[in-house]
Amino acid sequence: MVLAGFGAGKAVAGPEHMIRKAMPSSGEELPIVGLGTNRYGVDTSAEARAPLKAALRRFHELGGTVVDTAPMYRTSESVLGDLIADLGIRDDLFLATKADKPDGGAATAAQMEESMRRLKTDMIDLMQVHNLIGWREALPVMREWKQEGRVRYIGITTSRSSQYGDFETVMREEDLDFVQLNYSLEQREAADRLLPLAEDRGIAVMINRAFGGGRIFKQVGDQPVPDWAREFGCESWAQFLLKYAIGHPAATLSIPGMTKLHHVDDNLGASHGRLPTAEERQRQEAFFDGL
Ligand SMILES: NC(=O)c1ccc[n+]([C@@H]2O[C@H](COP(=O)([O-])OP(=O)(O)OC[C@H]3O[C@@H](n4cnc5c(N)ncnc54)[C@H](OP(=O)(O)O)[C@@H]3O)[C@@H](O)[C@H]2O)c1
Repeated sequence: MVLAGFGAGKAVAGPEHMIRKAMPSSGEELPIVGLGTNRYGVDTSAEARAPLKAALRRFHELGGTVVDTAPMYRTSESVLGDLIADLGIRDDLFLATKADKPDGGAATAAQMEESMRRLKTDMIDLMQVHNLIGWREALPVMREWKQEGRVRYIGITTSRSSQYGDFETVMREEDLDFVQLNYSLEQREAADRLLPLAEDRGIAVMINRAFGGGRIFKQVGDQPVPDWAREFGCESWAQFLLKYAIGHPAATLSIPGMTKLHHVDDNLGASHGRLPTAEERQRQEAFFDGL
């Protein structure tokens, strides 16, 4: 067995043993843990960037590929563009970003050009409409870019249940490769309608906020992970939460936000072993509800 890193204090298997899930629209397989970068919007100082570079390098070494950013995350796209170029890893990554222009297709196109410049790439793997902003005008432009090969996949995002009604409408009306939405042990509403709909419509699902922005760690406190969760490979609460979210049959991957090296090690550890069964996921829910 090749050892490529250390997760939660324990050696983890190399990238070739990672769990991958296939996107329904293309069959392309993606590692189930990606990287969320809404906290990568730092300044240009070496002090601010060094920890992020170390985290991104480790993410890549451990076999991670999907990186999610957005123009809304301050300088995140520029920071990533610089770090990816420094590390020379663009071709190994699946880069996802977003557009958020309410005022028409031309503004969306200009913003996408700017994202490419900042990310130092001539192709974006996934372009998403951020929080449905301007989706009617943005999606046709994204589809044009997809035909031209400048974007490989298109999608929409949300992280608020108040948007789920509109989100469902767009999922039904539009031809999408991906949806990105919030789903966690703490916020399970997406399982009522959106996740089953994604399965029916053959849309890949990227899960955001599987840790509730970090809030859920406070809720579990310092109690140990239950022994029965070790049967499906959970050595930490982060792995427990990620395996619950990605264990939903409609989920393709999750993109935990992580800026710290030991969080990358821990979270990538959830890409190994196996995912919980339906019964085990119910047990996770009952356990969490009893906290
Ligand atoms: N509408 C949208 O499109 C939308 C909305 C929200 C989020 N997103 C995307 O989803 C990503 C994830 O969301 P999020 O970052 O808000 O929430 P999250 O992934 O639920 O939580 C991130 C927080 O958990 C901490 N953390 C990460 N790994 C940990 C571990 N193993 N143990 C303990 N703490 C850990 C992080 O700390 P450190 O940073 O210190 O490592 C950070 O404070 C974002 O980065 C963004 O890409 C999209």
